[in-house]
Amino acid sequence: MSSTPTPALPPVESTIAGLRSRLDAVRAAGRTIALVPTMGSLHEGHLALVERARETADVVVVSIFVNPMQFGPTEDFDRYPRDLEADRVALAGLGVDAVFAPAVDEMYPTGPVQTRVTAGPVGGLFEGRSRPGHFDGMLTIVAKLLAITQPHVVVFGEKDAQQVFLVQRMVRDLDIRARVDVVETVRAADGLALSSRNAYLDERQRRAARSIPDALEAAQSAADRGIDAVLAAAQGVLMGAEGVELDYIAVVRPDTFQPVDDDHRGPARALIAARVGSTRLIDTALLHLG
Ligand code: PAF
Repeated sequence: MSSTPTPALPPVESTIAGLRSRLDAVRAAGRTIALVPTMGSLHEGHLALVERARETADVVVVSIFVNPMQFGPTEDFDRYPRDLEADRVALAGLGVDAVFAPAVDEMYPTGPVQTRVTAGPVGGLFEGRSRPGHFDGMLTIVAKLLAITQPHVVVFGEKDAQQVFLVQRMVRDLDIRARVDVVETVRAADGLALSSRNAYLDERQRRAARSIPDALEAAQSAADRGIDAVLAAAQGVLMGAEGVELDYIAVVRPDTFQPVDDDHRGPARALIAARVGSTRLIDTALLHLG
């Protein structure tokens, strides 16, 4: 009886120098590179990013680094799930050429860096208001990862819409060569957007958390009646959900990430952040305001 061979685990590179020399050879051979930056605890949403990377470039690098600079002092940096071997197993057979998994000392050998990328005013809105400093920390590590890998393409998930907006702007503002590719949010069968933090939810909280995608659906259904109807529809769903504490709900212009004016018509992005128990979840959907 023949058994299916187990796909090989992707090789791990833990030093900047090691990854650089590997990728110098790739570039010298005229091959293209895609980077998928992650903090590990990989789920189907991440795997969709890897698949996109695979379709787009010759060589795929997945970085796994829980970046202390983007966590606030009371946030979940210490308890953020870390399991490199499980992540390698999740990536097996997906054609990943290297997993870049540096230690904190490798990325920040002298402690917190003195030179930082600042996210500007949009970095202080929504997620940035609830998580001061988060986007500066995120942009700084993404800039470092881009400098180390110099990819042709870097792939992000739509769920973190404000992160995507800020990375796109950083790439433009700083003339970074990489193209930013964005992959649609992957959802569980119950509609909840996949997130590593979903693992913190117990069964009851998980049921309550479904009100977040439900609220976005209600917002989409109300979109042709304008912004007030959208907000009322989404808030109505969330107010009826026991155990869900709304942090913010907003509708922004995709090109500026500023809240839409009352008379805005056309594409817009709805954003929701809510706490379910001690877990903070975010989600987003595109709307067409009529
Ligand atoms: O989205 C994430 O997982 C992180 O913010 C990122 C982009 C890997 C930077 O640490």
